[in-house]
Amino acid sequence: MITLSVNGTSRTLDVEPDTPLLYVLRDNLALHGPKFGCGLAQCGSCTVLLDGKAVRSCSVAVSKVGSGKIVTLEGLGTPDKPHPIQQAFIDEQAAQCGYCVNGMIMQTAAFLGARQSAPSDRDIRQALRDNLCRCGTHQRIIAAVKRAAALMGKGA
Ligand code: FES
Ligand code: FES
Repeated sequence: MITLSVNGTSRTLDVEPDTPLLYVLRDNLALHGPKFGCGLAQCGSCTVLLDGKAVRSCSVAVSKVGSGKIVTLEGLGTPDKPHPIQQAFIDEQAAQCGYCVNGMIMQTAAFLGARQSAPSDRDIRQALRDNLCRCGTHQRIIAAVKRAAALMGKGA
């Protein structure tokens, strides 16, 4: 048995210790925000927060999470009350197929959560450089991150 803290709730699960965290989130907990893209820590679509840091859940064995606090896309906000980053992505229509958006939002949550000042385009590109979007929605994603920073009160 493994006990995880997911979106503020303690969950005890009967899973193999080397099961990727992504599989447990999706298959055992029906949290479908994190996506399976490459399965090799290369695309970012499976990103979740672990103690506030962005991690690629496809490449973290569930047994390695320990007492760390996991937050998934579902834990950021709700359809009725989206997190400012989610709202900014909606406002900027920053998705085409949408497959990368979980990773973009969760990486942005770690990025903006760790800074006080408004990010430049360069800062945002740097922060999201390892999150892949095959649709080419990058300009809208950058606009969404800037909007989110403003909504979150990140100063200039
Ligand atoms: S599915 Fe995890 S990084 Fe691609
Ligand atoms: S919107 Fe399709 S992969 Fe980014």
